[in-house]
Amino acid sequence: MKILITGGTNGMGKGLAKVLAKDPAQHELILMCRSQTLGERTADELQRATGNPNITNLLCDLGDLMNVRDGALKIKDLHDSLDGIFFNAGMGYAKQQYVTPNGLDGHFQINYLAQSMLVLNLLDLLEKSEAGGRVVLNVSRGGALDWNDIQQKQKWSYVKGIQQGMVAKRLFLQKMHHFYQNNTHQSISFIGYETPKTV
Ligand SMILES: NC(=O)c1ccc[n+]([C@@H]2O[C@H](COP(=O)([O-])OP(=O)(O)OC[C@H]3O[C@@H](n4cnc5c(N)ncnc54)[C@H](OP(=O)(O)O)[C@@H]3O)[C@@H](O)[C@H]2O)c1
Repeated sequence: MKILITGGTNGMGKGLAKVLAKDPAQHELILMCRSQTLGERTADELQRATGNPNITNLLCDLGDLMNVRDGALKIKDLHDSLDGIFFNAGMGYAKQQYVTPNGLDGHFQINYLAQSMLVLNLLDLLEKSEAGGRVVLNVSRGGALDWNDIQQKQKWSYVKGIQQGMVAKRLFLQKMHHFYQNNTHQSISFIGYETPKTV
């Protein structure tokens, strides 16, 4: 299975990569990273720890939507199909608001919008998966969208940013799940999970 992991250089993404890499006969991994140095170091570390040579990294800063477009094009250049995407990268605590070069709230763009765009641009590769393409997202419960101030221009908090990203991800998950459930020609599974406590 060929699996793209966003946020594969740290935390849960790296943890998942470590587990999957242990089975070189089954898993080829593409680690999406925003730092070339860290991406190479992580791929190298996992290759040495597991003996799996099929781990590569792909540079893409989710804070820049042009980068996301280029990242998707690069993946299509290098790969004919994908079996899975672990939609996981994200910002957590922040001291102050990060407004992306696209003028959007960082949490909203990085945790939700950029990765949704990436998935939408890679649906054709997932549809070609012989095993059945899968997209797995962390979608914890709770939170609300402040429709009058989604980009938090009036009042910002990192908690609100995280929560709005989660709600938007849940809406994306539901929409995509229903779309593929009703699509008789192609199928991709959209799977949401919740971490019961901070890991
Ligand atoms: N851990 C939990 O218990 C938990 C619970 C609920 C929800 N979450 C959410 O799940 C996500 C992952 O959690 P985590 O604990 O694994 O976080 P983490 O350890 O902070 O790792 C976040 C990953 O996202 C990447 N990332 C951040 N900004 C990026 C950008 N602009 N472009 C590309 N990649 C970027 C980071 O890259 P670098 O390595 O370069 O920093 C890192 O690989 C977060 O959104 C978090 O809020 C986590």
